[in-house]
Amino acid sequence: MRSKLSPSILAADFLNLGEEIRQTDQAGTQYIHIDVMDGVFVPSISFGMPILSAVRNTTEKFLDVHLMIVNPERYIEEFVKCGADGITIHLEASECVEETLTQIKALGCKTGLSISPDTPVEALYPFLHLTDMILIMTVHPGYGGQKFIPECEEKVRKLRDYLNQNNMDVDIEVDGGIKLDNAKMILDAGANVIVAGSAVFEKEKTFENTQNFLELFRKWEEKK
Ligand code: DX5
Ligand code: ZN
Repeated sequence: MRSKLSPSILAADFLNLGEEIRQTDQAGTQYIHIDVMDGVFVPSISFGMPILSAVRNTTEKFLDVHLMIVNPERYIEEFVKCGADGITIHLEASECVEETLTQIKALGCKTGLSISPDTPVEALYPFLHLTDMILIMTVHPGYGGQKFIPECEEKVRKLRDYLNQNNMDVDIEVDGGIKLDNAKMILDAGANVIVAGSAVFEKEKTFENTQNFLELFRKWEEKK
């Protein structure tokens, strides 16, 4: 399973968003992470469809849309229309998880299911057969630039063991507080899609920061 980087544009300079995305794209990122927040599921409000469409027009990379919104089933079709390649919903935010994941798949998108730090990993087990990716939040969702919660590493390990035991090929994404200095630890635990916001988007360093993550992945894969 190849490791992939998913830089979160929440940390980008919005006045230069096109250039920021070009920098990480040209440095070789595989995904672009789009954090949609509704001010209800999480305290903050970020952005929605118009930004996703604009990003779609500037890159062909996989658009990894993370919906931190209640009742995400209301908006799946629209996010697909705006160019999402993968849509992740929160287990805590939907009363019809199974139907929503089925809908995402039917619309030709990759499916993702996420849990916040207080939700046990076992709560995901009934839905794994419907997911291409599980997103383990490693901070409380809502803001960029928070500190990684160390207890989340064990959840990743537990989930990867469970997936291996059941011969399931599901990506594990981690999101929140991931930097160059803790990325190896989380790859060792079994994650293979790494979201990084503030550790990638940085004035005049976005290209270099992206390359550094990809170099770390290459070295990690060589040693395996
Ligand atoms: C938090 C978001 C994250 C966040 C990551 O709710 O889902 O994607 O932007 O930012 P960093 O990498 O700065 O913690
Ligand atoms: Zn996110």
